[in-house]
Amino acid sequence: MCGIVGYVGESEKRQILLEGLKELEYRGYDSAGIAVISKDILQSFKAVGKLKNLEEKTKNFSANGFGVAIGHTRWATHGKPTELNAHPHLGKESYVVHNGIIENYQELKKRLLQKGVNFLSQTDTEVIVHLFEDYLSLLKDSFKAFEKTIQELEGAYAILLITKIEPDTIFFAKNGSPLLIAKGDDGIYFASSDTAVIGKAKRAYYLEDGEWGYVKKDEITLFDKEGNKKELEFKDLPSDKLSAQKDGYRFFMEKEIYEQSSVVVDTMMGRVLEDDIHLDEIKEGFLDGINAIKICACGTSFHSAMAASYLFERIAKIRCDVEIASEFRYKEPLLSKDTLFITISQSGETADTLEALKMAKRAGLKSLTICNVDNSSIVRESDVALLTRAGIEKGVASTKAFATQTLLLWIFVLFLAKKRGVVSKEFLVNEIKAMQMLPRVLEVSDKLHEKIHRLSKRYLHGHGFFFIGRDIFYPLALEGALKLKEISYLHAEGYPAGEMKHGPIALADSNLFTIALMPKTMLYDKIKSNVEELSARDATILAISPIEFELADDFIKTNFSSHPMIEFFEMMVILQLLALEIAIRLGNDVDMPRNLAKSVTVE
Ligand code: G6P
Repeated sequence: MCGIVGYVGESEKRQILLEGLKELEYRGYDSAGIAVISKDILQSFKAVGKLKNLEEKTKNFSANGFGVAIGHTRWATHGKPTELNAHPHLGKESYVVHNGIIENYQELKKRLLQKGVNFLSQTDTEVIVHLFEDYLSLLKDSFKAFEKTIQELEGAYAILLITKIEPDTIFFAKNGSPLLIAKGDDGIYFASSDTAVIGKAKRAYYLEDGEWGYVKKDEITLFDKEGNKKELEFKDLPSDKLSAQKDGYRFFMEKEIYEQSSVVVDTMMGRVLEDDIHLDEIKEGFLDGINAIKICACGTSFHSAMAASYLFERIAKIRCDVEIASEFRYKEPLLSKDTLFITISQSGETADTLEALKMAKRAGLKSLTICNVDNSSIVRESDVALLTRAGIEKGVASTKAFATQTLLLWIFVLFLAKKRGVVSKEFLVNEIKAMQMLPRVLEVSDKLHEKIHRLSKRYLHGHGFFFIGRDIFYPLALEGALKLKEISYLHAEGYPAGEMKHGPIALADSNLFTIALMPKTMLYDKIKSNVEELSARDATILAISPIEFELADDFIKTNFSSHPMIEFFEMMVILQLLALEIAIRLGNDVDMPRNLAKSVTVE
């Protein structure tokens, strides 16, 4: 998502910051900025769009001699990608850059507004710098003011702060978002990812959650959560930039599968509270008069929509139809104004989805999008946008976007159900409890990955795959088949398990591979008999279930079976890894599969 760089030292700072930010470009961003204090002069520059805009703006600026400098690339989450919302954020005489989300920013902002503080941006970040300056005026000590500030922040953050009051210092703090300190020959560096400092420094310290402190010339002071001083244990930095971008994973897709466990935390942040669901983006009255939902999407996003359609009807008790956007466009659909039109899109640029949205708008429907890219065409065109906050997705085969879309739809279903008064508080709290298990459920264990790696060698031939499931596990089966198709080029189909006997079972023989999704919490006995029918016809079965299944040729045992959505997400990871391992064994370029594009902006 966003990127942070920082530097304390003698070298020219503009170049250092821009070079560092450039290395973080691959993470995605929509604006950038820098702030420098050198020879007691504080200067800052910001620009919307690509780094070359910032380069252009700063072309006459340079800062030699000792000083401190911070820089940031922003991927919008709170507020549009404008210059005012870009980091660094200014107080009176201090600047801050921040990655993550401050969950209690509204509360803090309210308090500061009452004190007469003026806010310029729509971001959560801006509260940090004002809170710091508020404490500074009270305590007259920047160290204490910084300590007090971070004690008040809730949520995830990696923060760098500079102030004219202490012009030789960078204050830093880390909780939940990555940050490192690196030692170079010419000074001390900060970065949110090591790619930004490779080549500039050889050793780095990766901060742990709750750690904070300050850096002055050749001096690093580090504290733990409790305020105790800590020693820094520096590690050697990797030397290869591309593999550093992949954080040591073989492919971006693999990295993105592993990231799911942490990006869902961002998706939920500020939205999933202990016993309530909160969606800031949806203003009072927006859902009034809505009696039906229509969702349009393509590819993986369509599968996420399909899974959600079961939840809309079952939980929120609202009619929900899902259509592939390219089909919707030409069917002369009948649309009524009491229908909320939802689009789902990772990129926000998919031409068919965008055109479907425009049609719905022309028909006078209210629109909402679930999207990963702020300021994309679909976000701009929609009345309301709920951002998935998955960060940039590089693998063409979508993984973390699917996970966050499905989670955000589940959140929205609960929000709507509550608003419609069709769920009890107890039910809501139970759903929230299940949701909060997701970071753990999505963690990939070495044992699981190794097992799937070993299994994958048995699935490189045959005349095709059927992925089967029922209810929400049917769209998941579709998604599992799509993942495999996209990157392995093997023929795979997703099918509703109960429908196999109406035709496809004719294909069953030992060279037909069936991947059976057999959750405990959803129609287990029904799917079991569907799979038995296939097994009786000699199909090769790979069963995924928390319950041992003796007819399976291969079996992956799942751990969680307390809630259908938890089983859904656990099986999702297994299907993603299976596709990945098969494709790697076949020697394919997993991140850039043949004939496919990440963002399809043509019809
Ligand atoms: C392309 C991509 C798919 C994606 C689909 C929809 O086909 O290769 O991975 O699911 O577009 O994209 P969107 O950005 O709208 O989710």
